[in-house]
Amino acid sequence: MIKFEDDFLNWIITFNNHKRWKNNILSIAKKLNPTKALDIATGTADIAIKLGSIPNCQVVGVDISEQMLNIGRKKIKKKNLQKSVSLQNGDAENLNYNDNFFDLITIGFGVRNFQDLEKGLGESFRVLKPNGALIVLETSVPENKIIRLLYSFFTRTYIPLMASIFSKDKYAYNYLLNSAELFPSGKKFSNILKSVGFADVLIKPKLFGSSTIYVCKKK
Ligand SMILES: C[S@@+](CC[C@H](N)C(=O)[O-])C[C@H]1O[C@@H](n2cnc3c(N)ncnc32)[C@H](O)[C@@H]1O
Repeated sequence: MIKFEDDFLNWIITFNNHKRWKNNILSIAKKLNPTKALDIATGTADIAIKLGSIPNCQVVGVDISEQMLNIGRKKIKKKNLQKSVSLQNGDAENLNYNDNFFDLITIGFGVRNFQDLEKGLGESFRVLKPNGALIVLETSVPENKIIRLLYSFFTRTYIPLMASIFSKDKYAYNYLLNSAELFPSGKKFSNILKSVGFADVLIKPKLFGSSTIYVCKKK
């Protein structure tokens, strides 16, 4: 399981676009006027902190790594958001919250880490209120064949190069590359969301489809 370099990995795999896409999540979230939001696999709380800027919204960030959460807690304190954002240790696949509790759930670069994807998404569905929304941001494989070939070539040369320059953990990058290419994305991921009960799935590809934002509802 990758833990220590996740923020750095985000930076590499998204060509440093992840901040912009997290702002896209905030724009979508704001329009939904949530009052109780859950950011799953919150890591160091980037998305939870953004959601904390929504008026009258209480945000919980949950992650299995206490180490990531501790970094997140420092960021929250620095931004003086302790009243609206709290972080809790927990497993996305066994959430410790009541059914129909949150009106918004976000998961940024987290679903690929789930051991059992359907179980994890099913837990999100369970704790989400009817009419609540789930927003997922995840790396994906471009659908266009030519762009996919270029993307594959680029990531297989660029990412190992960046790893050899900056990272102590080469395993993490190989894991990331393999899991990014194997993980269901686009329509396949949308079908999995539907199979656990979500509806009205919107697929918003980012940067030629190298990452995707999915927005869906519990009806
Ligand atoms: C790539 S980081 C993403 C962090 C953050 N959401 C972001 O976008 O910057 C993935 C996070 O998923 C967490 N994670 C992995 N499996 C998890 C699970 N089953 N339940 C909760 N968190 C999990 C890891 O600890 C890590 O912090």
